[in-house]
Amino acid sequence: MKTDHDLVESASSNSTDDAQAMFNKHLATYRKIVGENLMFHREVYGLLHDLLSQKMLKPFKFLDIACGDAVASAAVLKGSAIDHYYGIDLSPQSLELARDSLEALLCPVDLRCCDFVEAMADWSDVVDIVWIGMSLHHLPPEGKVRLMKNVHDALSPSGQFLIWEPTLLEGENRPEWLDRFSAYRTVWAAITDEEFATMEAHMSLADFPELAETWKAMGHQAGFSHAEQIFLMPNRFGRVFQYWS
Ligand SMILES: C[S@@+](CC[C@H](N)C(=O)[O-])C[C@H]1O[C@@H](n2cnc3c(N)ncnc32)[C@H](O)[C@@H]1O
Repeated sequence: MKTDHDLVESASSNSTDDAQAMFNKHLATYRKIVGENLMFHREVYGLLHDLLSQKMLKPFKFLDIACGDAVASAAVLKGSAIDHYYGIDLSPQSLELARDSLEALLCPVDLRCCDFVEAMADWSDVVDIVWIGMSLHHLPPEGKVRLMKNVHDALSPSGQFLIWEPTLLEGENRPEWLDRFSAYRTVWAAITDEEFATMEAHMSLADFPELAETWKAMGHQAGFSHAEQIFLMPNRFGRVFQYWS
C-alpha cells in the first residue's frame, strides 16, 4: 500500500517530469526555428562574431544575459580573446545544456541560474561586453531602462552593450506587430500549427516590442552616450542595437 509520503513523492516526481517534458517540447521548437534560421540567428550571431573578432583583440569579459543553451554564443566566442564568460538564465535545464556548449572555451565559465533583473540589480563584476538576445522585451518600459542602467554600471569604460530585440515599425503598435507575425504563418512552415499557436500565445502574453527610436532613447536614459541600430532582420520583426559611452 502507498503511504502519504510515497504519494507526495510520486506527485512531485510527476510534476518534475511534466516540467521536463514541457521544457523538451519548447526546446525542440526553438531548435527547429534556429535550425531553419527563421529568426536570422545566423546573421545576428555572425554580426556579433565580426564585432568581437575585429574590435576585441585584448582579453575581454563577456556577459550573456538570458543565455539559454548558449549554442550560438559559444560558436561566436570560440577562438576569440574572451577570458571570462558569464551566463544568466532562469532555466536550470538550459544552463545544463549551456555548460556543454561552452566546454570548448578556454576560460572560466560562470553560469548563474536566476532572474536577470535580480542578478543585474546587484551585479558586482566588471565586464566588457554585455549581450542580450531576444529577452529584454519581456520587461515593461521602466524595467527595460532599469536593466539597461544596471548593465551600464557593470561595464568597463570602453565596454559595449548589444541587444537583439523585437522592434515595431514606425507608426506600428503592438497589436499590429502581433498581426504581422501571425501573417507569417506560411513562411514558418517548418513548425507545426500547434507550435505556431503556442508562440503566438506566448508573444501576446509576454512580448513587448519597442520602436527603434524608443530602444535608442532608453539607452540614453540609462546613461549611454551612443546608441545605434546595427542590424534589421530581413523580415523586419527585430533589430540589433549597440550602446556605448
Ligand atoms: C528566446 S530565448 C533566447 C536564447 C538566446 N539568448 C538566443 O539568442 O537565442 C530566451 C531565454 O531567456 C530566458 N529568460 C527569460 N526571462 C528571463 C529572466 N527574467 N531571467 C533569466 N532568464 C530569462 C529563458 O529561460 C530562455 O532561455
